[in-house]
Amino acid sequence: MKLLAHSLVRIETDNAALVFGVTEDGKLVQLIFGSKAEECGEPSVAYPTWGDGWVYEPAFQATHSDGNTSVDLRVTDIIQAENLTRIQLGDAAYALRVDLLFRVYPKYDVIESWTEVSHDEPGEVVLQTFASSSLDFGQGEAFVTQFRGDWNDEVHMEEERLTYGLKVLDSKLAVRAHQFRAPWFLLARGGPAKEDEGEVLGGSFAWSGSFRFSFERLPQGSLRAICGINPFASAYRLSTGETFETPRMTWAYSPSGTGNLSRNLHAWTRAHVLRDGHQSRSILLNNWEATYFSFDETKIFSLLDGAKDLGIEMFLLDDGWFGTKHPRDSDNQGLGDWTPDPKKLPNGVRAVADAAATRGLRFGIWLEPEMVNPRSELFEAHPDWAIRQPGRELETQRNQLVLDLSNPDVEAYVFSLVDQVLSTDPGITYVKWDCNRYVTQPGSPYLPPDKQSHLPVLYVQALYRIFDRLAKAHPHIQIMMCSGGGGRVDLGAMRYAQEFWPSDNTDPARRVLMQWAYSQFWPPIAVSAHVTDMGHRPIDFAFAVAMSGRLGMDMDLDKLSSSERDLARKTVEAYKGIRDVVQLGTQYRLQSPFEGPRSALMSVLEDRAIVFVYSLGESPEGPLQLRGLDASRNYRVREMMKDVETIHRGSNLLEEGLPLPAYGEFGNGVFELTAV
Ligand code: GLA
Repeated sequence: MKLLAHSLVRIETDNAALVFGVTEDGKLVQLIFGSKAEECGEPSVAYPTWGDGWVYEPAFQATHSDGNTSVDLRVTDIIQAENLTRIQLGDAAYALRVDLLFRVYPKYDVIESWTEVSHDEPGEVVLQTFASSSLDFGQGEAFVTQFRGDWNDEVHMEEERLTYGLKVLDSKLAVRAHQFRAPWFLLARGGPAKEDEGEVLGGSFAWSGSFRFSFERLPQGSLRAICGINPFASAYRLSTGETFETPRMTWAYSPSGTGNLSRNLHAWTRAHVLRDGHQSRSILLNNWEATYFSFDETKIFSLLDGAKDLGIEMFLLDDGWFGTKHPRDSDNQGLGDWTPDPKKLPNGVRAVADAAATRGLRFGIWLEPEMVNPRSELFEAHPDWAIRQPGRELETQRNQLVLDLSNPDVEAYVFSLVDQVLSTDPGITYVKWDCNRYVTQPGSPYLPPDKQSHLPVLYVQALYRIFDRLAKAHPHIQIMMCSGGGGRVDLGAMRYAQEFWPSDNTDPARRVLMQWAYSQFWPPIAVSAHVTDMGHRPIDFAFAVAMSGRLGMDMDLDKLSSSERDLARKTVEAYKGIRDVVQLGTQYRLQSPFEGPRSALMSVLEDRAIVFVYSLGESPEGPLQLRGLDASRNYRVREMMKDVETIHRGSNLLEEGLPLPAYGEFGNGVFELTAV
């Protein structure tokens, strides 16, 4: 393959380079992806299309308006301005254009990659496959780590070597699309991923719908990743003059292991994705695990008293507060009817918001606006607003259906219902936005027959428009993204939220592992971590685990013993003193819970640090090497819940480590370090 002279396109961050070239016949080829120090390799096709000789997984496949199923893209222009590169490709024989876009965030070693597709053909062009990103990783060994799971059991890290053939990580669920697999993965080169050494990439897709990541080792030995919207049953008919923009695929690069990768991703996510990524979060009490659906105003007021007594700062009223004709006393009715249940809340939500305010608490509310129970006034009035297919018996999950957001009337309705709840009860400052089922009958009563396959894409686009309008109309409302737990933890949805609910599994023994897995991509400030009674673990252990994220509680405070109450009060107070370090600092993972009974994390902010130690079994006495400290300074180390203080040299803590005692099962330590 001969390259055009002067055709190199260099897309660079502080440590990574993605380099393209153009062949003499105008084809775009990839020359490097990885370390900046890498020499240009053998050119490989940059964005493979179906029908120009490529016989493996394509990044792009379309049927032209005249029925031709092949696409042959040549470079027509390259525009580089500051951090954005646009490579324009055009079909050699058709008025079809595919622009490849790359935005770099140099100091975080992050590159975003996406495409824009448009055409001027006389009729519709059918997009069959339209990946956001295609990259060649060359010949070396590579290992992928996926984050798989289910409801109540999210983000198990599963690593495997990529051998010849195709490995696909995907979701076909359309909504609550990440119930079984998160849309992010690690890719380690040369050997399995390690915390502090080795070249590793993080791939993360900004899309809350069905996705597909394919990894194919070709017969010639090179490995290619293709990432984007799942093309399965999602053909998109693109009209003349219309532009289809694919979601952004984020690639993060680290030459020195996953620890560095995560720290960069945390900082980038706080700066460029999350809302208010530099503002610490309130401590909240949620009533879900305390009451489930059965509560009344008296019970809620009593929880508010308890919250105030413990120093908690916000109360979140969960599911069950609404429904008049079909009161929401269980999950089998009322969803969709967002007026307060007069039996439970005779004075409305307003009274609860006021009662919270009187006690100096912020107030938040649970909503699940995209869903409906068939037993609801909403469904009775609009049976054609639910996603369903003709001739099929309605299939519910958790007794509910998904509203058809591809219908503009439904989109407008969902926006205005949330807008109204937030406007009529101005005491609300926080929303837990839930979404508790995926799609199994992907039909839209609204879309015409030839556009049924647009539903998965149109749904997510409409959802993002709703989120965006709400964020603009109510900029002070904070959002906890929830989808029966972690079904919607992705860079697309999290642009509109401050934090997420990682899982309905709140057993702290399980959360130690989950929080470790989430931390590969997500900063502690985004991780809602609540102390509950699940698993019946010692309450000090539950607190120690929750304190390493955004602390909250989800317990019936009326049932706490007086010693538990004292501990809770003291810990809430202590957390207020350290939350800036935990939420705004830099996190180091010190010891993995997957490698032994004792695990440890720490966060560092300027001259302070917090170290969390958890023991899931019997762990022997032994030092713990710390990170991120100044070797030349002395640190006062205070074991927080015990008020024991010692002084250590920074260099000793970094080299020999902090001496730790033996711990039994659920033993733990939270240490505050201050440079003196
Ligand atoms: C989902 C959420 C829970 C809770 C319930 C309410 O399962 O993940 O935290 O809000 O819905 O029905």
